[in-house]
Amino acid sequence: MKTLANDALLRALARQPTAYTPIWLMRQAGRYLPEYNALRERAGSFLALVRTPALAAEATLQPLERFPLDAAIVFSDILTVPDAMGLGLRFAAGEGPRLERPLRDEATIRRLGAPDPARDLRYMLEAIGEARRALAGRVPLIGFAGSPYTLACYMVEGSGSEDWPALKAMLYGRPELLHRILEVNARAVADLLNAQIEAGAQAVMLFDTWGGTLSAARYEEFSLAYSRRVLGALKKESDGRRVPSILFTRGGGNWLEAIAASGCDAAGLDWTVDLDAARRRVGHKVALQGNLDPAVLLAPPQRVREEARHLLDAFGSAPGHVFNLGHGVSPRASIEAVAALVDEVRAYSGKVRARAA
Ligand code: CP3
Repeated sequence: MKTLANDALLRALARQPTAYTPIWLMRQAGRYLPEYNALRERAGSFLALVRTPALAAEATLQPLERFPLDAAIVFSDILTVPDAMGLGLRFAAGEGPRLERPLRDEATIRRLGAPDPARDLRYMLEAIGEARRALAGRVPLIGFAGSPYTLACYMVEGSGSEDWPALKAMLYGRPELLHRILEVNARAVADLLNAQIEAGAQAVMLFDTWGGTLSAARYEEFSLAYSRRVLGALKKESDGRRVPSILFTRGGGNWLEAIAASGCDAAGLDWTVDLDAARRRVGHKVALQGNLDPAVLLAPPQRVREEARHLLDAFGSAPGHVFNLGHGVSPRASIEAVAALVDEVRAYSGKVRARAA
């Protein structure tokens, strides 16, 4: 087993005691960091950055050079999967992502196949290898993918949306077509995450960013059922150590018990969920990750520290909490705010643990 200098993340995900609450941030490498903007400029575009393993590995490590975070997450994007399926990914400046050939007709959907990660997403696997070498065991590296449902949202709609009209029309009008897409996606995501684990990912996260836009019955049918399938197909160990999985469902607070029973090791929570109530609802089933409102990082450092303490108190001193935001870091977040957050989580949670011991 290769040794990790800091295994607090893996211990917390396994609900084992840690000296303090580990913290990492969704989108910790991103536009709030001037060195990230410079690196993207050097690469030429966001997608060029993602597709160049040496540069993607550099982006992965950037936030760790500034803040004592407890994990790195490989720099990439969930939409590389539909891109590898031939749907044509574009990021126009100032706009969100677009797929040039969204899935709208039955013939195209019947032809859809899962990519071979070693051939079609090799750049992501190489970025993981390079990031692991550069990290040299400092902290664990997290791999990730979009959930089958969240990927299908973009694949059918062709872009992000408030209400997903094309996707919802298919979901209610031609559900068998959406199920066919979700089956392919579940295979694609399981294959990709297993390839990431083989390439060196020490934990994996499924981003179900849009599962929360579904009704309760349709959430189980179209989102959770397929995430469960992915989780069940994952390799559980690498290098003699368990590779834990995190399922993040934005807007999924109502279904926390079902998420906790899905086969994940941890449930990622958005900021609308009360952390104390969530811990009581899941009991000892899974660890919890989250859930600071990302907008707190737009406030002065003193407010950030107060909000961090409030969340740490809400969870309490039991093991099984990974501190994170409830969604990604905003490009408008200040570096001072992020620094204050990371510092406060480590210092305050450490003090509480020492007092309890
Ligand atoms: O967290 C990290 O530091 C790792 C990198 C990461 C990115 N995207 C980089 C990125 C991760 C884990 C993602 C996941 C992702 N991508 C999700 C799920 C999580 C979430 O945010 O809900 C989704 C829905 C996407 C698709 C995507 N990629 C969108 C909607 C956008 C545009 C919105 C935005 O924030 O600009 C992206 C672009 C993107 N992905 C950027 C980054 C750093 C910004 C692009 C840039 O630098 O111009």
